Amino acid sequence: MSASQPVSDLVRVRAPGKVNLALRVGAVREDGYHPLATVFQALSIFDELSATNAAPGEYRIRVQGDQAHLVPEDGTNLAVKAARLLAARNGGVDRHGVDLTIRKTIPVTGGMAGGSADAAAALVACANLWAIDINPAELQDLGAELGADVPFCLLGSTALGHGRGDDLVPVLSRGGYHWVLALPDVELSTPAVFRRFDEMNPDADPPPPSVPAGLLEGLASGDVQRVAENLVNDLEPAAISLRPDLADLLDAGREAGALAGMVSGSGPTCAFLAGNEDAAVRLSGALSSLGLCRAVRRASGPVPGARQVA
Ligand code: C5P
Repeated sequence: MSASQPVSDLVRVRAPGKVNLALRVGAVREDGYHPLATVFQALSIFDELSATNAAPGEYRIRVQGDQAHLVPEDGTNLAVKAARLLAARNGGVDRHGVDLTIRKTIPVTGGMAGGSADAAAALVACANLWAIDINPAELQDLGAELGADVPFCLLGSTALGHGRGDDLVPVLSRGGYHWVLALPDVELSTPAVFRRFDEMNPDADPPPPSVPAGLLEGLASGDVQRVAENLVNDLEPAAISLRPDLADLLDAGREAGALAGMVSGSGPTCAFLAGNEDAAVRLSGALSSLGLCRAVRRASGPVPGARQVA
């Protein structure tokens, strides 16, 4: 088989969603982005993407599963942009073509990097489908052009992020963490949450953001209690100010036995850390019965980044 022929006619990749165990935010930069100091953890809540070859120059997408109707099935989908970007840098968009199908599980506009996970999955799938020789670092650079969270969705596990959140260093993390995710019946736009953050934090020259040392120590020793005590999200007050009901949901999860609860990323998903798997089962049952949100899911982390499954 020559290098230009596809390795397989069908490539399936799954990519994880994430929570930010710490999300510290600095003052907005001239490019509209905010400097971050963040610790990402990839969770076992996956979108699955299938890719098959299409005629050169054709890039199609179908979206299935939970909330599929909220995801665009055209060239504005980040997974299509990812496929086209990879093609453009490797012979041109008219040299390759792809049919993508995404099965969504990660909440849409939920603060868990669902769109970024799909872009990461598309990069991995198309690189394989088109037999493109590209190393992980080059793939991450392409990912960063697509969005700040895409490099982490490629890397997975636990990582410290600086810059826009795309300058990554793996973090030593022992043990597994059990999460309960409450998915509210509202959407929150990430840019709108960052704008509200700016309104609520008018200090033009705050100190550079940094993550709590106790969080990194807790992760290194596998101390879930220490990790719980050090969870922090600077965007949470902004998300609550836009969706005040989130405060009730967070209170309810804490009262139902979570070690800690926080808005995930820019929200509106609320992530609750449980002491162990049994506690997570009990917590998810209790939160479901309260009827305060659209759905409740359990997930564990850390898990690997976007990987081929077939
Ligand atoms: O990079 P991405 O497209 O995922 O970011 C979405 C939006 O989130 C940006 O347009 C910006 O408004 C906001 N953002 C930010 N600072 C970051 C990351 C994202 O202001 N570090």
